[in-house]
Amino acid sequence: MRFFRILFTVPVLFASFTTAQSRFVVTKDGKFQVNGSDFNWMGTTAYWLPSLNTEQDIINTLANISTAGYTVVRTWAFNDVETTPTNGTWFQLINNGSTVINTGSNGLQKLDMVLKHAERFGLYVILSLTNNWNPRENLDRRLESDIQARTLWDRDVTPGTNNSLPRNFLSNDYGGMDVYVRQFGYENHDDFYTTAAIKNAFKNYTTQIVSRYKNSSAVFSWEIANDPRCSSTLGASSNCETRTVTRWHAEIARHIRSVDPNHLVSSGNHGFFCFDCPKLSDSSPSPPSPSPSPSPSSSPQSRRSLHPLTKKRLLQERREQWKRTRVAAIQSRNLPTEGIRVRGQWDATPTRRQVGNGVGSAYDGSAGVDSQDILAIKEISFSSFQLFPDQNSYGVDDPNLSPYDNMVQNGVEWITAHARAAQSLRKPVALTGFGLVTQANAPSFVPFNSSTPPFTNQSAGVTDEQRDAAYDTWSQTGVTYGLQGIMQYQWGQTGLTTQPGTTISPNINGTTQSTNVNQTEAGQSPNDGYAIFNADRSKVQRIFSDAV
Ligand SMILES: *[C@@H]1O[C@H](CO)[C@@H](O)[C@H](O)[C@H]1NC(C)=O
Ligand SMILES: *[C@@H]1O[C@H](CO)[C@@H](O)[C@H](O)[C@H]1NC(C)=O
Ligand SMILES: *[C@@H]1O[C@H](CO)[C@@H](O)[C@H](O)[C@H]1NC(C)=O
Ligand SMILES: *[C@@H]1O[C@H](CO)[C@@H](O)[C@H](O)[C@H]1NC(C)=O
Ligand SMILES: *[C@@H]1O[C@H](CO)[C@@H](O)[C@H](O)[C@H]1NC(C)=O
Ligand SMILES: *[C@@H]1O[C@H](CO)[C@@H](O)[C@H](O)[C@H]1NC(C)=O
Ligand SMILES: *[C@@H]1O[C@H](CO)[C@@H](O)[C@H](O)[C@H]1NC(C)=O
Ligand SMILES: *[C@@H]1O[C@H](CO)[C@@H](O)[C@H](O)[C@H]1NC(C)=O
Ligand SMILES: *[C@@H]1O[C@H](CO)[C@@H](O)[C@H](O)[C@H]1NC(C)=O
Ligand SMILES: *[C@@H]1O[C@H](CO)[C@@H](O)[C@H](O)[C@H]1NC(C)=O
Ligand SMILES: *[C@@H]1O[C@H](CO)[C@@H](O)[C@H](O)[C@H]1NC(C)=O
Repeated sequence: MRFFRILFTVPVLFASFTTAQSRFVVTKDGKFQVNGSDFNWMGTTAYWLPSLNTEQDIINTLANISTAGYTVVRTWAFNDVETTPTNGTWFQLINNGSTVINTGSNGLQKLDMVLKHAERFGLYVILSLTNNWNPRENLDRRLESDIQARTLWDRDVTPGTNNSLPRNFLSNDYGGMDVYVRQFGYENHDDFYTTAAIKNAFKNYTTQIVSRYKNSSAVFSWEIANDPRCSSTLGASSNCETRTVTRWHAEIARHIRSVDPNHLVSSGNHGFFCFDCPKLSDSSPSPPSPSPSPSPSSSPQSRRSLHPLTKKRLLQERREQWKRTRVAAIQSRNLPTEGIRVRGQWDATPTRRQVGNGVGSAYDGSAGVDSQDILAIKEISFSSFQLFPDQNSYGVDDPNLSPYDNMVQNGVEWITAHARAAQSLRKPVALTGFGLVTQANAPSFVPFNSSTPPFTNQSAGVTDEQRDAAYDTWSQTGVTYGLQGIMQYQWGQTGLTTQPGTTISPNINGTTQSTNVNQTEAGQSPNDGYAIFNADRSKVQRIFSDAV
């Protein structure tokens, strides 16, 4: 009765460790664990949670998220402003080289509420500490002098004026790296990673936040930054390369660990690979042996996952994949027709090297990110990556597939590449954000480095059915290849309290002239193009629970 004995001994073994701390998430053998059991999860993002107007709104949202079956929620634990705003939540004032943290009721007490109630609903929270993205141009052109002076504009929404979206409506409107750079008197985005004064200020901020919640069992992980890269709206200096970003990660991760030994630390980077980049770490995965000899008993899947990902193997597997789709397309007489391609247009301009037979911009380090070098940092607990085909391209298109099928297929390749890479470092891997813009959401879509929607109508985006099919395929791929966490971007909540001049303003509808926000109902949570509200949600939830 071995089975019985295991059931019996495990609790006894862990009983001796039973403290409040047994709810902390740990990693073991490439898995997340809570209190001695594996913890695989589905999550959602609600970056705007601390900017809601009432505690009851926070409670309702978390209750809804929990009821939907999610166990992890990701939110912004930063909210930087350059001048003290009239209304709404803010956490840190960064002005002319000095910083002030707001611990008041419109400051960190809002984040306290999020963690308190998350704990009550059994939810874990991934707390992101800063953002790569904070575009400032074109937000409000009323005062040319303000634009010239690069000062902060009053962007509180007032119905009938040309004011833009309210502060904190867009995920890229919570301050972040570029605010530090501007306010400390620097010019390049990557000065954030290298300048002592800025690093000091950011470490000060992380110390305050991290020590505040270091005993909270509701924290899943400290996410160092959302989508850190060499450049943003502010450009990169010529010195920035992948090791610049990796080195900064190592320094910050070590700092967080020194303040809080209880919680996991994750990067939050997009997941870009760079096979040819020089590494900071000497513990990068070793190149594959010339003839790997899988054990005969292993399944096709685990056998395949034994191969570490290399450039040569990626290109070879792609060629094989293309051959298969070619044969299938010919057999089904279903060769693709030309289509207008809008996806991935915010991607970095490809160099000649990347075109054609190259690995593609997601695999060549052109964003200044080498996710594997970052993952090799000892204090980085798990691999996190993102998938947003409307904003990045994730591969080289197969000429035998339609644009939609290529988008889905490249996503599958991206997910499996990450599963394999993390496995070779024996760390868990989680897709911490993915989404597709649907036709209904297209007018609300504002890409990461923009402040206004590029599409004024529903000509762009996939159908709801296409979205569901892609989410289904990616979730299945993630589960099959052993991802330990999958997070949809993003949650949509209704019935929130409105207040003039705040993120949840009354009467925001398509009539504000500088935007085309499709927010017909007051009291809806912010939508940057990915939110899924009410009725639509049950279908998407079913996809996730089926996958699990
Ligand atoms: C951890 O597991 C033990 C044994 O199953 C259990 O008694 C204890 O309540 C658990 N603790 C938490 C915080 O879940
Ligand atoms: C979701 O929140 C709303 C309030 O915003 C509430 O009326 C509703 O009952 C909640 N639904 C669930 C399933 O918790
Ligand atoms: C910014 O700070 C510097 C000193 O650090 C000071 O000389 C300068 O006057 C300040 N500028 C403003 C606009 O406050
Ligand atoms: C909004 O902007 C447009 C174009 O700049 C201008 O014609 C219009 O008068 C503005 N409306 C208000 C209320 O400021
Ligand atoms: C960091 O915090 C320390 C202590 O509060 C303070 O003296 C210092 O000025 C801060 N540094 C920056 C750059 O904000
Ligand atoms: C966290 O727990 C430690 C040890 O129990 C305690 O010393 C510390 O004050 C706590 N910190 C916070 C912010 O609650
Ligand atoms: C957004 O990013 C793309 C490529 O990274 C760049 O070409 C474009 O200029 C950026 N736009 C803004 C407003 O920063
Ligand atoms: C829809 O928007 C696209 C670009 O955003 C534009 O080219 C097209 O003309 C628009 N169509 C209509 C019917 O407004
Ligand atoms: C700020 O909030 C107050 C009270 O809710 C409101 O009266 C005021 O109009 C808001 N300010 C702006 C600029 O909307
Ligand atoms: C949207 O704005 C228009 C014009 O200001 C107004 O007539 C309409 O009632 C608003 N709709 C909602 C749902 O607030
Ligand atoms: C706004 O969104 C709703 C629901 O998603 C959709 O039915 C409607 O067509 C959209 N309106 C516009 C103008 O995009």
